[in-house]
Amino acid sequence: MQANPKSPWPWRHILITGASSGIGRALAEALAAPGVTLHLGGRDAARLAEVAAACTAKGANALPHQADVRDAAAMAGWINAAGPLDLVFANAGIGAGTGLGFERPDDARAVFETNVTGVLNTALPAIAAMALQPPGADGVRGRVAVVASIAAFVAAPGAPSYCAAKAAVQRWAEALDATERHRGIRLHSICPGYIRTPLTARNRFPMPMLMEPEEAARRTLAGIAAGRLRVAYPWPVYAMARLVGGLPPVWRAAMMQRFPGKD
Ligand SMILES: NC(=O)c1ccc[n+]([C@@H]2O[C@H](COP(=O)([O-])OP(=O)(O)OC[C@H]3O[C@@H](n4cnc5c(N)ncnc54)[C@H](OP(=O)(O)O)[C@@H]3O)[C@@H](O)[C@H]2O)c1
Repeated sequence: MQANPKSPWPWRHILITGASSGIGRALAEALAAPGVTLHLGGRDAARLAEVAAACTAKGANALPHQADVRDAAAMAGWINAAGPLDLVFANAGIGAGTGLGFERPDDARAVFETNVTGVLNTALPAIAAMALQPPGADGVRGRVAVVASIAAFVAAPGAPSYCAAKAAVQRWAEALDATERHRGIRLHSICPGYIRTPLTARNRFPMPMLMEPEEAARRTLAGIAAGRLRVAYPWPVYAMARLVGGLPPVWRAAMMQRFPGKD
């Protein structure tokens, strides 16, 4: 991989799932520059086209692609046809919780299918393709960033499936990095706190240190560029999640029962 003088970031061939909204959109726009090819995935064609147009206006070669991350064959087809990939974001995700007083079974399944299986459907073909690419000057063939969450560190009663799904992909990415880095592939777990996107717009509880998606994108890219295995921000929310997550389960549950569930 050669540095791109037209971009503050070193990557030229990038694929992002969930690029049609929120954090994915902000990542795409932050990475858009002349000499950069962006493969942009999502389901909503109109919003994807809008993001692609914004990236093209910044000089990037933006290639929108409608794909559902739950469809393993479609995801493998898209990723295998994309050509070389320096950086892949398994970012697409949905939220659900106990806002109705309980977590609906269909919501629980949908969260695992999108936030866990969808991540595997993105990361596994990307890793297989990267293994065949030549390493760059830094010895890295490619990077896969899995967008987990600070929710990975707390079993919050208001969002059981969401927390469990995020814990699964955060641990999977961090464990896998230990072996994949020996063949030149790096994994990164991205653990944002509360970010202002459509996903959090319906939350009915206080969201400490709510951050704009542009700032989340900047911190994510800076963390990956620095080679950090886990990119978690903002640190006070991360520290609090680690603290609460480390409490005895009964104390944690009693403390967190007071928060309304996620819709
Ligand atoms: N916002 C936060 O506070 C926060 C904090 C920590 C982690 N995260 C994580 O960050 C990621 C992005 O979330 P966001 O806040 O940016 O939410 P968002 O604005 O709702 O965007 C979600 C994106 O995921 C895509 N998506 C959802 N289901 C999909 C599917 N089955 N197939 C393909 N694409 C699908 C959506 O595309 P379409 O609409 O086109 O289908 C959309 O582009 C998620 O993994 C989320 O869990 C968010």
